[in-house]
This record gives sequence, structure tokens and C-alpha cells, in this order.
Amino acid sequence: MESRGTRRAFLGQTFGAAGALGLAGLASRAAGTELGASWAEELASFGGTPQEIAANEDYWFQVQQAFSVDRSVVNFNNGGICPSPNIVQDAMRRLLEYTNRHQTSSALWGVLQPQMEGVRERVARQWGVDKEEVAFTRNASESLQICQMGMDLEPGDEVLTTTLDYPRMVNTFRQRERRDGIKLVQFKLPIPLEDEDDAVRLFESHITDRTRIILMCHIINVTGQVLPVRKICAMARKRGIPVIVDGAHSFAHLDYTLAELECDYYGVSLHKWLFAPHGTGLLYVRREKIKGLWPLMAATAAQDEDIRKFEEFGTRPMANCVAIGEALTFHQGIGPARKEARMRYLRDRWARRLLAHPSGRVRMHTSLDPRFSCGLGTFQIEGVDSGRLRDVLWDRHRIFVIALKHEKFEGIRVTPSVHSTIEEVDRFSEAIERVLEKGLPE
Ligand SMILES: Cc1ncc(COP(=O)(O)O)c(C=O)c1O
Repeated sequence: MESRGTRRAFLGQTFGAAGALGLAGLASRAAGTELGASWAEELASFGGTPQEIAANEDYWFQVQQAFSVDRSVVNFNNGGICPSPNIVQDAMRRLLEYTNRHQTSSALWGVLQPQMEGVRERVARQWGVDKEEVAFTRNASESLQICQMGMDLEPGDEVLTTTLDYPRMVNTFRQRERRDGIKLVQFKLPIPLEDEDDAVRLFESHITDRTRIILMCHIINVTGQVLPVRKICAMARKRGIPVIVDGAHSFAHLDYTLAELECDYYGVSLHKWLFAPHGTGLLYVRREKIKGLWPLMAATAAQDEDIRKFEEFGTRPMANCVAIGEALTFHQGIGPARKEARMRYLRDRWARRLLAHPSGRVRMHTSLDPRFSCGLGTFQIEGVDSGRLRDVLWDRHRIFVIALKHEKFEGIRVTPSVHSTIEEVDRFSEAIERVLEKGLPE
């Protein structure tokens, strides 16, 4: 195996080369395989199971170097939005400059828009679906709203979701209540939930003969709960009810393909766990369902069965979209199984340490069972206000987390990522232990 120094020099050359690239041949490079491929080979040269790699700091050192994050602060809100690695930022800069330097409209629509088709094909291939089932949107909100607003409903029809679903998606149905006279039904899930069949039964028990749509999260953003998408979709399909799956936190975080989930509608933010440019999202719609789903912005009748009708929202920055290809290369370079294992490893490292604290005052709102959670974890210290704890972490330690107050619980959500270091995770745990031992500072 190469020494750390050799590998580091290699990476410096690789990323340095990215900045030095000219514009010639941009069309072939922009989909992002050339620069990323050698980096991917470099990472692939590390051997071991995903669990072994998850604990190999030499490997993750290489991954950490791919980002330009400021190490004077600790960003543990990657669940909000993630930084993009340098190769993605470089691609965006290159493509943006190209668009502005050349005849802008032909660069945008003549060169870069056709290149999106290559990115579409690569993304579809990675997640095991047909490229004609993948649309690129601006975020998960847009992808999910296309589904939530694009299905015809009659007054009195019901849509079903949980009290833990994402507020914007809940508000989308609330607006349809006011506008179309439908009824939103929300039910409570146990926190945490550690039985797949119970999850299916809970959804099923709230279905009535007026239920027309189910909205569910693959990973719940406030608790990190993983729900059994395939089983819930199968149950609903038998009853003829479409399920809209909110995959904002699961895509490129858990190792799965869309094919194996066997769902019909799946909305994703690519700027979260894929580390794609900010303002990029994805909508998967099973091919035979495309015709029956209205786009948010009008398209022609000729586009009825074309997945691209969901991309009819006017001029967009193509640099962002085409640079998704670089983010995919980065994701492939790490490998989905290794990434999932590392995310869980980091969560376990802080969560198990805090749970073992002799005070016994740490409560996890996230299951530690690998079937029901991954990198996202939420905890609470009994008797300590979570908002004040968040402020202390930031003011005293420059560690950024978010505090949550839900009707059923409150807590601190902690979301490290592949760029996070073990030192950052341990510093966070020490800061919490200090509060457990000495209380919050005045
Ligand atoms: C569960 C869930 N769904 C949807 C969204 C919306 O994502 P975006 O803001 O990227 O549209 C989020 C954002 O955090 C989320 O956590």
C-alpha cells in the first residue's frame, strides 16, 4: 500500500490539474469521469470490508482532503445541506465560466443541456432504473411537490402521512386542503420504531376508503428513523394507493437502488448526501406513472409521457446540473457501502459514548439498530434545554448542530459527514460530557 504522503501528493496533483484545465474538450469532461476516475482508483486501492474501511482513518483522511471545509468550525448540520467536494466546485466554476465566456445561449442549451442526458444516464444506471424515469429538479421540495400537486383529488379525498414528515411537504397538503377541500390525515409514529411490520401495520391502519395518496419519509429528518419503503409501497399498491417517498435524506446515504425499493414516486435533494451542487434535486417516477402526473409548470401534450416535462421550469443554471456528474463520480469513488458504513460508524462513536455516560441522562431518539438508522442521530440530555445546549456548543466550541422542538420530544440533531474527522466527533462528545458533569455554563 502507498504511504499517506504519496497518496496526498497524488491527490494534490489530481485536484491541481482540475483547476488548470482549459475549455477545449469541455463537452466530454463535463460529465465528470476523467478527473474523478483516477481519484476513484486511488480510493479503491484500499482493501477491506465496508465495516473495516469505516474505521480506517487513512482512507477517510483521503476523503477529507477532497473538501475545502474550514476546520476552525465543526459542521454537524450536514443534514441541512452538505458542502460539495472540490472536484464538484471546480466543475461548476469551469462550466459557469464556459457558459459566460462563450455565446451564452448556445453554450447553455446547445452544449450543456444535451450533456445532462449523459448525467441522467449515469445516475439512472447507478440507482438501477431507466434514464427515462429520472428528472433533475432544484431540490426535494420541488420533486415532492410535483407529486403532491400533480395528482388529481376530489373534495373529501384523504391524503395520509405522519406527524414527523417534513413541514414543507405537510404544508403542501395543507394548502390543498384550503384550495381543493381535501383532508390531510397525520398519525404518530413511535420514536424510535424498531419493527418493520409494525411500521406497515401503522400506515395500513390509518387507510380509509377515501385515502388517495400516502406520503412517507425513507429517513425521517428529525429522528433519523429509517422506514421500510418497499414493504409500505407493496402494501399500498395492493390497495391501489400511490406512495410518494421523501428520499431527501436517504439518497446516497443508505446503500440501495431505486429498483429494489419498487416504489413509484421518489423525491430527492442531491445537495444533501450526494454532495452535488446546491440547488439540485432528482425526481424518480416509474415509467407507466409519468403520463398520469401533472408537472408543476405547464408542458405540452406531446410531452405527456416524457420525464423531461418535470424539468419545464424555464432557464436554469446548467453548470449546477451537469456538475452532478462529478458528485456521482465522487460517490462512486468512495463506494455506497463504505459511505453508509462510515456514516453509521461516526454516529455510533458519539452516540454509544454518550449513552455510556455514568449519569444515565442521555436519551437517544434514534434507534441504534442498523436496520432503522444510519448517520443522522438525535439525542437529549434530561433536564437540559436543547436550545441552550446548541448555543453553548457553538459559542464555546464552534460546533454547529441544530436543536429541535417537536410536540413529542426535543433534542439536538447531529449529522457529521464523510468530511468529518474523528477529532471533531470526539471533541463534540467531550463538550457534551462536560455539560453532563458540570451543567450548562452561565
Ligand atoms: C425529510 C425532508 N424532506 C424534504 C426536504 C426538503 O429539502 P430541500 O430543502 O432540499 O428541498 C428536507 C430538507 O431538509 C427534508 O429533511
